[in-house]
Amino acid sequence: MEIILAKRTQTVKISPIREIFEMASKTPGLVRLEVGQPDFPTPTHILEVAREALQEGHIGYSSAAGMPETRQALAKRLKEDYGFIFDADTEAVICNGASAAIYLTIRATIDPGDEVLRPDPGWAQYDGVIRDADGIPVLYPLIPEKGFAPDFDALQNLVTSRTKAIIVNSPSNPTGGIIEKGQLELLLEFATKNGILVISDEAYDKIIYDKEHVPLALLEQQRERVITAGSCSKNYAMCGWRIGYAIGPAAIMEQVMKFQSLVNICPNYIAEKAAFAAFNSPQTATAEMRNEYKGRRDVFIKGLNEIPGIKCAMPEGAFYAFADVSAYNMDDWDFTRYLINEVGVTCIPGSSFGEKGKGFVRFSYASSQENLDEGIRRMKEHLPKLL
Ligand SMILES: Cc1ncc(COP(=O)(O)O)c(C=O)c1O
Repeated sequence: MEIILAKRTQTVKISPIREIFEMASKTPGLVRLEVGQPDFPTPTHILEVAREALQEGHIGYSSAAGMPETRQALAKRLKEDYGFIFDADTEAVICNGASAAIYLTIRATIDPGDEVLRPDPGWAQYDGVIRDADGIPVLYPLIPEKGFAPDFDALQNLVTSRTKAIIVNSPSNPTGGIIEKGQLELLLEFATKNGILVISDEAYDKIIYDKEHVPLALLEQQRERVITAGSCSKNYAMCGWRIGYAIGPAAIMEQVMKFQSLVNICPNYIAEKAAFAAFNSPQTATAEMRNEYKGRRDVFIKGLNEIPGIKCAMPEGAFYAFADVSAYNMDDWDFTRYLINEVGVTCIPGSSFGEKGKGFVRFSYASSQENLDEGIRRMKEHLPKLL
């Protein structure tokens, strides 16, 4: 029998980054700097609460929007941290990661043929999510010389009658850039003028150095067009727990909750208990991890810039270094293959994040200082030969 597959399976592509993982997993002794997740364990006070919940043994369904107590704890956390106030009963849904928050929001708001603007370079997963809703991803350029801020002229030129939403991501994967308050205001003005939604991906909101994170929703008075996607994954070293959240207008959150109930019924009970502990306790562990990343960032970026041919701006958030390697006479994919096969260091080619990432590669410094130092040492030894 012919295999039965939906047409959608042809339009949704999985990330080309898989090639890198496959190459990396076959080669022993590599310094792995491609992995985009904290190298710290989940803080013990969070593990403890999850253990207690397991011990109790009453592990049932929670509400489709997530446990009321976890939503309340999230509301308290964001109020305390940013003065971000919302109704935890009607304006927040706990989801399986920021990924699910974004996926369900797109499902709830995008019709076939609708266009969704997403940053270039930006997290390539957005494209698959938009296509899965039969929408069309439209990439808007960020300007490297301006700390990867959006190019507003280009942005306006990309708007058509089908434009329905814009995805904004700060701190950014892959650039490590943050969007300043003034720029966020301009983005909101742009969205308001064009009557479109803003999906603000703030999955790295607490991994920000020297500056203050500003939730985009805080700048909106009417509270009608911004949906915030957040996550426990990076802030609390909880990637595998799969907890994040969507916050936005009640009418949209009701639909997000409906779609969540179709896929998952509700988030994972134990993980929600753990998320409650993460939100509801002092943020010391997060601050410690941030300080550690900051120390590594300073040393790693300095090391990168000492390598002839590499230029890397100082990232202001997340744990990524987006390095310009265009001086080497090869494209970013060939550079990555060379780095893996000949130098023994892994990274992600910049063009896998969009056209504007060409000539760049992404390193993650969520890795031990020892690994990072060894990575720099290997690159210093091998790369100058290529020039
Ligand atoms: C920009 C961005 N948004 C969202 C996510 C998804 O995070 P989560 O683990 O919460 O689904 C990631 C994960 O790498 C990311 O880089």
